Amino acid sequence: MHNILLTPGDGIGPEVMDATSRVLGWYQKNRKFEFQAEEALIGGTAFEKVGRSDPDDTIAKAKKADAILFGAVGGPQWDNLPFHQKPERGLLRLRKDLELFANLRPALCFDALKDASSLKPEIVSGLDILIVRELTGGVYFGEPKETTTLPDGQKRAVDTQVYTTSEIDRICRVAFDLARLRGKKLASAEKSNVMVTGVLWRQVVTEVAKDYPDVALTHILADNAAMQLVRNPKQFDVMVTDNLFGDVLSDEAAQLTGSIGMLPSASLGAKRADGKQWALYEPIHGSAPDIAGKGLANPIASILSLAMAFRYSFNRGEDALLLEKAVDTVLAEGFRTGDIMQKGMNQVGTAGMTDAILKALDKVAG
Ligand code: IPM
Ligand code: MG
Repeated sequence: MHNILLTPGDGIGPEVMDATSRVLGWYQKNRKFEFQAEEALIGGTAFEKVGRSDPDDTIAKAKKADAILFGAVGGPQWDNLPFHQKPERGLLRLRKDLELFANLRPALCFDALKDASSLKPEIVSGLDILIVRELTGGVYFGEPKETTTLPDGQKRAVDTQVYTTSEIDRICRVAFDLARLRGKKLASAEKSNVMVTGVLWRQVVTEVAKDYPDVALTHILADNAAMQLVRNPKQFDVMVTDNLFGDVLSDEAAQLTGSIGMLPSASLGAKRADGKQWALYEPIHGSAPDIAGKGLANPIASILSLAMAFRYSFNRGEDALLLEKAVDTVLAEGFRTGDIMQKGMNQVGTAGMTDAILKALDKVAG
């Protein structure tokens, strides 16, 4: 019996979470997937209901769950909240308190969508890269993080970029292990030309590489990585990078595939003493307030995040493949939500896309 915590959150979060729950129901009925699901508040929605975007109760429930399925947080109505109350704090606290240090962000171009990218189809067709982003360190959490007032009255804001050897070591090992299962190529992106954290990053990854002689390691400056991603993205297989560069580069990589609405992610913690591992799965798109509540959102990223949960938390690789195949099928059949709409295709909303995926699951499961 798997314990799943659902945190739908804000904007389109609840809609894509509903879609994902329907897929969970399909697995319960057809694949003997036994689970208990509970919901908890997070983000702006939590702030409205209980006065905090990161309720203690949600964190406690998350610690008891085998996997968290996360929707999205944020929205313009909360833009002016003080920094520590912003909806994003909910997500950041989950990452920190559950030590979800390894963020896996695949960017995979579905064949049916190679024309939906803003890049030429030959640049993106067959694209399959994995960005491994460090998620609990760096400038997101470094101290001091503060705004002070100088004697002359102007303000001074400080964020701190900080990494220790062990933080770099553990994320690099995750990346090397994954590279081993894929194309045996790892690119490490940092700014060792201007940042001491980059110098340390390069030293540690070079040291870890000695344990992985079968994986080809290259070092790349993060700005060059951003450029190479649009110039020739297929040169990459796995890329490992820090929290902030990973945030930026993964959005860029996502858009190569046609739509950020397509891409899932997994955030994994360290193995715990009881053999389990905390894990959170979320679509990498945000809360998309402009289309929230209209039934238009693309549920594929959230549904593919469930596929990642099957693979990394529930040890059900076959169920993950089934789901990925079902998504591939509906795209090949021409179903499109607005964000990936192309001429001559069949435009559907969130529910229509989910119906199509459930039907495709029946088909591919035989
Ligand atoms: C992401 C998001 C988050 C981040 C926000 C919502 C805090 O952009 O998961 O990439 O910056 O990490
Ligand atoms: Mg981001």
